[in-house]
Amino acid sequence: MFAPFDDLRTFVRGLESKGALFKVTEALSPKFEIAAALRYLNKHTDHPVLFDKIVGYDIPVIGNLFQSYASISAAFGIQDGKKALETYRQQSGRRVKPEMHRSGPVMEAVTEGQVDILKMMPVLTHHENDAGPYFSSAVTIAKDPESGIRGMGIHRIQVKEKNKLGIFLGTRPLSRFLELAELKKTPLEIAIVLGMDPLTFLSSITYAPEGIDKFDLAGGLRGRPVELTKCKTVDLEVPRHAEFVLEGKILPGVRETEGPFGESGGAYLTVQNPVAMINCICQRKQPMYHALMPFNKENGIISNIVWEATQLDAIRKAIPLVKKMHLLGSVGEIAAVQIEKKADDDGRKTIQKLFDLLPRVKGIVVVDTDIDVHDPDDLVWAVFTRFQVSRDLVTVSGVPGSVLDPSIEDGLTSKWGLDATRPGNETEKFKRIAPPDWAMRKVTALLGE
Ligand SMILES: Cc1cc2nc3c(=O)[nH]c(=O)nc-3n(C[C@H](O)[C@H](O)[C@H](O)COP(=O)(O)O)c2cc1C
Repeated sequence: MFAPFDDLRTFVRGLESKGALFKVTEALSPKFEIAAALRYLNKHTDHPVLFDKIVGYDIPVIGNLFQSYASISAAFGIQDGKKALETYRQQSGRRVKPEMHRSGPVMEAVTEGQVDILKMMPVLTHHENDAGPYFSSAVTIAKDPESGIRGMGIHRIQVKEKNKLGIFLGTRPLSRFLELAELKKTPLEIAIVLGMDPLTFLSSITYAPEGIDKFDLAGGLRGRPVELTKCKTVDLEVPRHAEFVLEGKILPGVRETEGPFGESGGAYLTVQNPVAMINCICQRKQPMYHALMPFNKENGIISNIVWEATQLDAIRKAIPLVKKMHLLGSVGEIAAVQIEKKADDDGRKTIQKLFDLLPRVKGIVVVDTDIDVHDPDDLVWAVFTRFQVSRDLVTVSGVPGSVLDPSIEDGLTSKWGLDATRPGNETEKFKRIAPPDWAMRKVTALLGE
């Protein structure tokens, strides 16, 4: 069904041939300047941005890759941006096992031993107060030291010295793998992959039950297997068409200050984090560097589409009244939820259940089925015309909050829910103003969609 791309560069070339790529030909530095351009272009184009000339490097940089749903559809080989979510949802139910190959393009140039990461690749420094250059789109792969099952995810990585990294393992499964390795006092082998094909990249941030191999999910999304090859110095497998792979290990029992780094939620975060040493870099001969500017539109689009495509069914099962739902913000901080209300307290009850089911969400707006959860104007209208603080506000305090939220205290936060559904049975009073349907249909036929 699909024509998935084997690697990042073919995807980028495909976008270019369709006129869906923004090119910057002026020379820019990886220190702040590319980040500034990505932030500037965040508001000026939805197209991914290719930087041809990078000061000090002969390596192009691609950024803002998923600034729109159209780019996600393009990754599936389809045109219509409106079909991105539905396509993702359909394909995410499938599993296709990866395929092993003896080698691959990522092994075209291998540097073993004394590596100097910053000499070899244009790792970006993004924000004014960042502690240094950071990988923000690299996918780290490791194995469960007991079961051998693979896990992966995006983890921010600070380049501290030539071959020394600080890595933020705040989420499972990698945080768990490190715990298990540390119990045995052994290092955790890692492969850091930069520049994957677009659908494998998206699969790496899918919420997967423990034990599920995300390469199986990627195969399902792509409609054909991810092609893997063995790493050179660690017992791990990586996509053989990747642009770069950094091989190394996380040291057991070591924690150092990592950060500050400007995070996905739009605030700086400093953490005591594990340290990794890199002893081998594999790369393609003329590699491309994949940048991800935290807090740009892309951040919310990739986090939220992956969540909605894979988790919404479970929410609907737990609360059958829920019809649609959309996460807003760069880390899904607010959930807009459409319900088919039957009893007057359904809105409040839904909010209370969702506080438990959506631990990462800080605020919830519940609306009726005539409100479009994807349209912020519609949500504002529902809140203005149907919500009263004294009657419809639901709050909870002293619950675990997100580390990305600088307002939490001792790890705890308070959350709010707005029941913006119509109160009681009165419908006329809450009807949206509009010309009659027949007149709208007539002018639509005359003037076009
Ligand atoms: C842009 C982006 C950046 C992320 N950065 C980190 C990070 O620095 N540290 C971390 O532990 N998780 C980070 N995550 C979340 C992990 O990748 C997360 O594990 C994954 O999205 C969900 O997979 P899981 O259910 O297997 O944990 C990030 C996610 C995204 C989308």
